[in-house]
Amino acid sequence: MALQHFLTLQDLPAADLETIIRRAIDLKAQPQPASSLTGKTLGLIFEKASTRTRVAFEVAMNQLGGASVFLTNNDSQLGRGEPVADTARVMSRMVEVIAIRTFSHASLEKFAAYSRVPVINALSDDFHPCQLLADVQTFMEARGDIRGARVAWVGDGNNMCQSYINAAAVFGFSLQIATPSGFEPKAELLERYAKHVSLVSDPKQAVAGADLVVTDVWASMGMEAEQSERATRFAAYQVNTALMAYAAESALFMHCLPAHRGEEVSAEILDADDSVVWQEAENRMHSKKALLEYLIAG
Ligand code: CP
Ligand code: NVA
Repeated sequence: MALQHFLTLQDLPAADLETIIRRAIDLKAQPQPASSLTGKTLGLIFEKASTRTRVAFEVAMNQLGGASVFLTNNDSQLGRGEPVADTARVMSRMVEVIAIRTFSHASLEKFAAYSRVPVINALSDDFHPCQLLADVQTFMEARGDIRGARVAWVGDGNNMCQSYINAAAVFGFSLQIATPSGFEPKAELLERYAKHVSLVSDPKQAVAGADLVVTDVWASMGMEAEQSERATRFAAYQVNTALMAYAAESALFMHCLPAHRGEEVSAEILDADDSVVWQEAENRMHSKKALLEYLIAG
């Protein structure tokens, strides 16, 4: 059987993704740590900053009885030019699974091609599939099934937006995306999943009747130089009380975090008493446990 990687949501059958999310919900309810991954090691290679993803992976491995090894470009030979393929060949002879946070999605695919063990995308410039496991878990906990729900994405057509497009097809929800012109997600994804996804320029149109409204920073990691130009171009795309008024009355707001209050989201929305963003962040860990069990233990 071919090695099972998790570089995008499309790498796993939809039924398995649902099983992973249900297992995450079960694991969250268990008071005692499990021991399903005793003796197993997760390699983490992070070329970009992280709080949630790193902590979630390390604590997940620890609570399941395993261990993790954390590398960055600065403290590994990757930063001194050792080829990705060589790093993959070496690391995958020592650990049972590897999670990578990097820039180029192609270099992640190259790593996976040379790895003997499953490789997880811990965020690339193009996709952030692990975040979607947590987001769908959070929606299911709060509202039940996400199938048939109406989801609005407001802001940059970035890695998170593109993983929402993938998720719309896998989990069967409809996704309305509002981005300023020039910041759309890849046309190829919009075409492939046209049955589930539509693109508009007016955020009010995207949010109208939505069960879930999602946004993310206007300048992702690696795009810091564009921050001020983007702040101007995205000014009309802030998720605030006025915009949320167009959504369904029970609509949830989600954000993968870190958030910039006063830019892509107003403080009153992010810090609302019923905000689920903190539950969403916590679910990163529970869903990672379920994903690690699935990839390592089967
Ligand atoms: N949402 C998310 O991936 O957060 P970190 O960048 O802190 O890992
Ligand atoms: N789109 C953001 C997500 C951070 C978790 C970024 O890539 O920086």
